[in-house]
Amino acid sequence: MNFANIIDKKKNNKELTAEEIYWTVNSFVNNSLKDYQMSAFNMAVWFNGMTPTEIASFTQAMIDSGITYNLDGVDGLKADKHSTGGVGDKTSLIFSPLVAKFGIKVAKLSGRGLGQTGGTIDKLESCPGWTGEISETRFKEILNTVGISIMSQSSEIVPADKKLYALRDVTGTVDSIPLIASSIMSKKLVIPADSIILDVKMGSGAFMKDLDNAIALSKSMITIGKEHKRNVSVMITNMDKPLGRAIGNAIEVKEAWDTLNGNGPEDLIELCVTAAGLTLVQNNVFKDLETAKVELNKVLQDKSAAHLLKDFIEAQNGDFNVILDYENNFKTKYTIQILAQNDGYLSFASADQLGYLSMHLGAGRATKEESIDFAAGIYLNKTSNEFVKKGDVIMTLYTNREDIDNFKQKAQELIVLNKELHQEELILKLLTNEDV
Ligand code: URA
Repeated sequence: MNFANIIDKKKNNKELTAEEIYWTVNSFVNNSLKDYQMSAFNMAVWFNGMTPTEIASFTQAMIDSGITYNLDGVDGLKADKHSTGGVGDKTSLIFSPLVAKFGIKVAKLSGRGLGQTGGTIDKLESCPGWTGEISETRFKEILNTVGISIMSQSSEIVPADKKLYALRDVTGTVDSIPLIASSIMSKKLVIPADSIILDVKMGSGAFMKDLDNAIALSKSMITIGKEHKRNVSVMITNMDKPLGRAIGNAIEVKEAWDTLNGNGPEDLIELCVTAAGLTLVQNNVFKDLETAKVELNKVLQDKSAAHLLKDFIEAQNGDFNVILDYENNFKTKYTIQILAQNDGYLSFASADQLGYLSMHLGAGRATKEESIDFAAGIYLNKTSNEFVKKGDVIMTLYTNREDIDNFKQKAQELIVLNKELHQEELILKLLTNEDV
């Protein structure tokens, strides 16, 4: 096969065959296709898109580049969940116990954070000893005993995506619907879950800036799922503001625990209950979303799913006591309160920038090699759309780093006090298999 012909076809918007796509992906993975050639391919896809048939072949070629898991021997129905990434997004830690409480197992692969977005694996590692590097056998054992297990993404899982994503990241080709859809779905399809719920973030801090594109991405992912006989639902949600009040690692696990104990922020509850509700409807536990949400809210109030978070963390060797005694275990050298300089309705200039601030405080990594300070992060004492008075504490920064004045200035720059309330919907659209 000849790459010049393949790139020429894609450049001229002609459909590639499955063989051509497999050859391209395999050649890139085994290094016979160079980064500059694959960059040209990605850019041609960015401009011309891909047909559904091309997307199907591309996704399959990526899946076939690595190992897949089976869940043989795991009793009952299994659910998976994925978010396209956000600031303060600890949904998986609340979603999983809620769903497991109703007998649906949550079998999930998760990643680490990079840049402004956090990663579930980093958050869980704030419980000393917790590991996502467990064998397939142990994964299945924990699923059968606790009902939740989360593994870290390894280099053996969809290696083509790992290599491709790193290249897209530095060549301006991340925000392409066919490339995002195949990247996400290839990683979802390596675990044979009966249902998948996808949280597609939309807004200034997300890859999808408007609803039309977010819907197009969602439909593309549902289509891929359908081809693999998977039941996929999508929620398109607002990422103009952080989710909940906590941004960081241990502080987010603590917020998840509090939420499961009936004491969570409204937006986080709404998102988790909707995600879990859609999953329970997909798996026929409830007939409709409204009934599911009522029952899930009861579970948050009676706290009966909370122990599942603790049990799952302990099953994967984590010490959950550090979260139960949070104040004594996650002290930082500096605690900085950021005060309102005027009265007004609060909003934040950018969810993304709050994520970056948290990263600079030590809670995230700018490069893959950096280590994380589990105690660092931000607590939003006031949240979007609240009316605040001059002198009120808007947020508290926790850090062990010395750059205090810079942190204070950055935090102040992110606070916007409006004369009027600009209420925005959190959940913008729901789509299921039937919508495609
Ligand atoms: N998340 C992914 O896993 N892949 C993308 O391409 C974008 C977000």
